[in-house]
Amino acid sequence: MRVRIQKFFLSASVLAVIAPAVVSQQIWDIYTTKWDRTNLFRSLKPASPINFSTPGPIGQAHLNIDDATVYQQMVGFGGSLTDSAALTLNNLKSSNGGAYWDLLYRMFDANDNAEGAGLSFIRLPIGASDFSGSEYSWNDNAGDTSASRLTITAPGFVMSVLNDIKTVNPNMKLFLVPWSPPGWMKTGGGGGMKGGTIQSQYVGNYHNYLHRAVAAIRNAGFNVYAVSVQNEPEHADNSYPTCTMSASQYATIGNNLKNTLNSNGLGSVKVLAYEHNWDHAAEYPVQVLRQAPNLDGAAFHCYAGNVANQDAFHNAFPNKEVHFTECTGTIGSDWWSDVKWYMDTLFIGSVQHWSSSAGMWNIAVDPNGNPKFPGTSSCGNGCRGIVQISGGGYQLNQEFWAMAQAQKAINPKDPGGPFGQRIKLDVSGGQGWALRANAFVTRRTSASEWQRYSIVVLNWNDGSSSGWNPQPVTTTIRFRGQQATVTFDVGVTTLWWYAPPR
Ligand SMILES: *[C@@H]1O[C@H](CO)[C@@H](O)[C@H](O)[C@H]1NC(C)=O
Repeated sequence: MRVRIQKFFLSASVLAVIAPAVVSQQIWDIYTTKWDRTNLFRSLKPASPINFSTPGPIGQAHLNIDDATVYQQMVGFGGSLTDSAALTLNNLKSSNGGAYWDLLYRMFDANDNAEGAGLSFIRLPIGASDFSGSEYSWNDNAGDTSASRLTITAPGFVMSVLNDIKTVNPNMKLFLVPWSPPGWMKTGGGGGMKGGTIQSQYVGNYHNYLHRAVAAIRNAGFNVYAVSVQNEPEHADNSYPTCTMSASQYATIGNNLKNTLNSNGLGSVKVLAYEHNWDHAAEYPVQVLRQAPNLDGAAFHCYAGNVANQDAFHNAFPNKEVHFTECTGTIGSDWWSDVKWYMDTLFIGSVQHWSSSAGMWNIAVDPNGNPKFPGTSSCGNGCRGIVQISGGGYQLNQEFWAMAQAQKAINPKDPGGPFGQRIKLDVSGGQGWALRANAFVTRRTSASEWQRYSIVVLNWNDGSSSGWNPQPVTTTIRFRGQQATVTFDVGVTTLWWYAPPR
């Protein structure tokens, strides 16, 4: 960019004199991840730009981008910093500090000129989850319903790794959520935080715990983007911290929490409903928002139902936020099949169904999906992390390469500036079926600066019923009456250009 923007501005007046040429947009920045892994999220650094010019015939596929139609503001892509994930990362830091920092920069550096993904969605459990070394809440002082004695009792390495991530990406967005209230507030299930439900006498004051958890994280130096009342409130499992909670209880606690955050200077922190599977998107979160209309939106998981179910919540509350906060890969599945599914369903698909974010489960675990909560049956044959770490080294998994391509399209252009906002994109042409794509505009901190326009494109034209046959798709991109031609290899491509504000 650096030189290029200057060139646009300098040449505009000169060109007007010497030639009637239109000063147009150019594509210099292209990142791809190919199906055969010969290229993994690397800039192609073209020697000369791909130019937008007067439209000719459309290509095998055609992307029509309409920046007059804007949709949701994006927040980011990423995963959960469980205790296990933080321990795994911290062990790498101890055994091979160079590899640790390389990894953090590759995952979280949002700088344009770096080859980092800039992942900005970080979900942090409040207390123990199924990926913790022991059972604990942030306030195990029985009877302290005002939560005045709450402290961040997570192992020290959790906050230290979180701080390292923040050093690399100061604009990360934190999503807080408990797997269970403190054990002394519970009844039934396996005892303590395992299974069971919240005792009715605590429904009216549990928000104090959540408010103080948010405040404690803020006091530790981290902005909190959102907090949820309960992870997977329709699911109980006596082998790890879980808690069932009715939609009505969730709404009562959420409403009290929102009001308390508002009256304590934390009104910018969003309170999200549900945190559970797509299949009940039309029911549980809709019931919560009907009873507690001051909540900010709903969060969804992938383990039942279909991503299109998110529309039911969006249609009921079009002005509320949608977030996709958890899905996990399982050990042994096929790399390219997974990348296709992640793009189609989550990192492109959930965004088409109104998500502002899409997050996977553990950021890091070992190659067997460990360590886990002692004795838990969760993640039966092993959940793969976004990165797996062993023997002082790391391997970034398909989850990373897929989400990196999506995140690169929405990173702020200006440090601390706005993230991308989705704009209208239509796919057509004879091979339009081969592409799945989203488009975004990223605004600038200065209103006069050219905005960034980006697309993320999956080409899944890899064969037919008769066999494996990956084929590139020559594609025209139409933008503000001009057209550029790009050939997309089978894989995922992210590219962008700049244009004056509308
Ligand atoms: C795009 O236009 C520039 C001049 O601005 C030219 O140097 C370059 O070769 C063109 N790119 C292509 C692919 O034709």
